[in-house]
Amino acid sequence: MAQLWGGRFTKETDQLVYNFNASLGFDKKLYKQDIQGSMAHVKMLAKQGILTEQEKDEILKGLTEILQDIEEKKLEFSPEYEDIHSFVEANLIKRTGDVGKKLHTGRSRNDQVALDMKLYVRDEIQETDMLLKELLETLLKLMEDNLHTYMPGFTHLQKAQPITAAHHFGAYFEMFKRDRSRLADTKKRLNYCPLGSGALAGTTYPLDREYTAELLGFDGATLNSMDSVADRDYLIEYLSDLSVIMMHLSRFCEEIILWNSNEYQFIEIDDGYSTGSSIMPQKKNPDIAELVRGKTGRVYGALMSLLTTMKGIPLAYNKDMQEDKELAFDAMDTVKGCIALFNGMLETMELKKENMEKSAKNGFTNATDAADYLVKKGVPFRDAHSIVGELVLFCVKNQISLDEMPLEEYQKISPVFEQDIYEAISMKTCVETRNTIGAPGPEAMKKVLEIQKKYLEDC
Ligand code: ARG
Repeated sequence: MAQLWGGRFTKETDQLVYNFNASLGFDKKLYKQDIQGSMAHVKMLAKQGILTEQEKDEILKGLTEILQDIEEKKLEFSPEYEDIHSFVEANLIKRTGDVGKKLHTGRSRNDQVALDMKLYVRDEIQETDMLLKELLETLLKLMEDNLHTYMPGFTHLQKAQPITAAHHFGAYFEMFKRDRSRLADTKKRLNYCPLGSGALAGTTYPLDREYTAELLGFDGATLNSMDSVADRDYLIEYLSDLSVIMMHLSRFCEEIILWNSNEYQFIEIDDGYSTGSSIMPQKKNPDIAELVRGKTGRVYGALMSLLTTMKGIPLAYNKDMQEDKELAFDAMDTVKGCIALFNGMLETMELKKENMEKSAKNGFTNATDAADYLVKKGVPFRDAHSIVGELVLFCVKNQISLDEMPLEEYQKISPVFEQDIYEAISMKTCVETRNTIGAPGPEAMKKVLEIQKKYLEDC
């Protein structure tokens, strides 16, 4: 046990207590951010004349070597250190002697850990955003390739109206685009530097907090030292962003599982992204999609856990807040893994376009268009709706589609119908004439594609 705080104690910490309290096992993930923060702190201390230039240089050299040794696995995270902050500081003192003992001047682990976590989340936001961008690029390609791939659109999981696969993928494009913008919002509010807040009440040293903030790429220093050490809102926001991403991935996975089923046969997941059964030789299971759907619960769990941890703790720092890490780290890694795997599965799956189109043709997906046909000929919509209802009933009884129903039967129900009804309710007309903004018609889709393409070029 190499603790930072032995002075006022008369007894050694019990080993079980030590283990219970220690966090190095998981906060070692913060080593890079911890060192990055210490470097900025030391530079600021020297600028303010609190450390000499020489002391600064010695400490920076020591920290650089520690970082290098960790990355080259020459320095291991041995459990005798309580947390990542003690680990780095103790190793610095080992290497530099007395000068290393000056690193923690004007700083507490409370503002230090708040900074480390913010830096970590900021890096994570960047990585997750890049993965989402790659996913959007895959979706854009699928959209470009499938402007005329007809498929049924569903409501209540009942066939509703025909759409295109491009349009369906476009819906997910919008979702993941919003997810990226949520990440950017989270970063905006996160990006103020807590370092220099001390344990809770600032310090008496003439720290230049704005300077430290600038060195670390923040938009400024936080304005209340108690809030600075007690705030985990940014992490809650990030976990909420991640939860929404997982909700989107999970819905998409659910559809992929349905589409890949024997009943739908809209797609075939690539062999590389499927698994077999140990007993049933014929099986090819969509395990990856199921696992992504399943892992969603785990990410929600991290969000709920932190909200619950934070809800009852008085200002300012309390040790409860150490519980912000394990589940959050797990959630962050889980989401990155899920996006990357999902993207691979999407890129490689095969669309069975004929089956999609065949499915779009039955189930009366053109019934609305038959009603619209009557409206164009002067029938009020409510009457048209009822007339087409009768047509559908006739077709259901006779097991035919609207396209197969003879004209004289149409005319028995309403004399308004003429030969041009067949053209009006063809799949091509149904889809390709829906060209209001956001609709599946190819003219509308092409305009949207231009916007989405430009968006991906710009950010
Ligand atoms: N391991 C602690 C955490 O993650 C670091 C801060 C400890 N501060 C303290 N006063 N015990 O929250």
